[in-house]
Amino acid sequence: MLGITRNRPLPRSGMDFAESRQRSSLAGKVLFAVILTVVCVIVLRQSSSYNSSIFSRHESGVTHILVTGGAGYIGSHATLRLLTDSYRVTILDNLSRGNLGAVKVLQKQFPEPGRLQFIYSDLGDAKAVNKIFSDNAFDAVMHFAAVAYVGESTLEPLRYYHNITSNTLLLLEAMAAHNVKTLIYSSTCATYGEPDKMPITEITPQVPINPYGKAKKMAEDIILDFSKNSDMAVMILRYFNVIGSDPEGRLGEAPRPELREQGRISGACFDAARGIIPGLKVKGTDYKTPDGTCVRDYIDVTDLVDAHVKALAKAKPSKVGIYNVGTGRGRSVKEFVEACKKATGVNIQVEFLDRRPGDYAEVYSDPSKILRELNWSAQHTDLQESLQTAWRWQKSHKNGYGSSL
Ligand SMILES: NC(=O)c1ccc[n+]([C@@H]2O[C@H](COP(=O)([O-])OP(=O)(O)OC[C@H]3O[C@@H](n4cnc5c(N)ncnc54)[C@H](O)[C@@H]3O)[C@@H](O)[C@H]2O)c1
Repeated sequence: MLGITRNRPLPRSGMDFAESRQRSSLAGKVLFAVILTVVCVIVLRQSSSYNSSIFSRHESGVTHILVTGGAGYIGSHATLRLLTDSYRVTILDNLSRGNLGAVKVLQKQFPEPGRLQFIYSDLGDAKAVNKIFSDNAFDAVMHFAAVAYVGESTLEPLRYYHNITSNTLLLLEAMAAHNVKTLIYSSTCATYGEPDKMPITEITPQVPINPYGKAKKMAEDIILDFSKNSDMAVMILRYFNVIGSDPEGRLGEAPRPELREQGRISGACFDAARGIIPGLKVKGTDYKTPDGTCVRDYIDVTDLVDAHVKALAKAKPSKVGIYNVGTGRGRSVKEFVEACKKATGVNIQVEFLDRRPGDYAEVYSDPSKILRELNWSAQHTDLQESLQTAWRWQKSHKNGYGSSL
């Protein structure tokens, strides 16, 4: 060992040598991950072409749903529910933010031909999207694909208008051209901005205050204008803050590490509990709320996907339904952090900072319309329980879906 070391040219310092070894091992890992991802995409694309004939024709008694953004957090959970309920599903995702690992979990759960296919494509590519609509017989579209971070939208507004507004327009054009007549659209409470009156109903004026909310509102307007002269069945669901994960632990929320800073509160709590970040940064303690921190309405992803299935079942030609999807109860960030400490069993360190641009003080829903018309109400309303479920997945997937690739 010593001899080998002596015969080598000496590194400039021990530190440099260790760094260069670290760098080359990191480069090796990155290369390995890239190769593995490419191989997986090729395999998944090949398996989808094998099934393509089944997906290209309508079959009586089978409803074929195009799930855009199905490799993402909510889209993957929706796909799981749709497949469980015997729908046929095509996921369209460019994997810019989603996880191939989530698609693989779904394919493993539902391996039978004609259940699930994955198409790796970008919704902004009109030609590719049109070909996908030509090659497949969709009955309905659930449109989840989007960039979805308020803070990021203030830094990169054009990206948000392009990805959310323009892509929704392209998707609608493809649906119209190929006679696909049902759309379930993922909208957000961010379209309301900061209303004077709480709770927020569906007729609360929409005055979004950040590019994310504005881009979603514009997309809604395009859909609504189009639907006036069309027989399309449209359901617009305005979600409040989504948390939790599959109670059976098959799926979870795994945003890209580089999005952590932009990220959502649950992800930050778990990262802090796992020691990935030193603690939690609570941004803003001087809002006009009972404890000074922002108040939000947290909806469990299991309930949210249930709302989608109910919306799909009740969608009617030439009709538009617009619904808030929330619990109807606001919880402060401080309350959330306490629930997260209990759910994880970790005494998370909390640092209180100035407000973040684009945030609003208090937002919670009036969910009575969706109860009345779709017979839906949130069932998983115990914050700690939802966080505990999500935490179980986080603990067993320390690298997100990375380890399952
Ligand atoms: N998470 C929340 O709290 C929340 C709240 C309100 C509304 N929403 C909406 O729900 C939807 C899903 O959000 P999420 O939290 O699952 O986000 P996510 O980032 O986990 O999933 C979005 C998915 O869309 C894909 N995607 C993005 N741009 C694409 C493109 N151009 N072509 C193809 N695929 C593309 C990404 O790769 C990703 O898989 C979004 O429309 C979001 O605005 C989310």
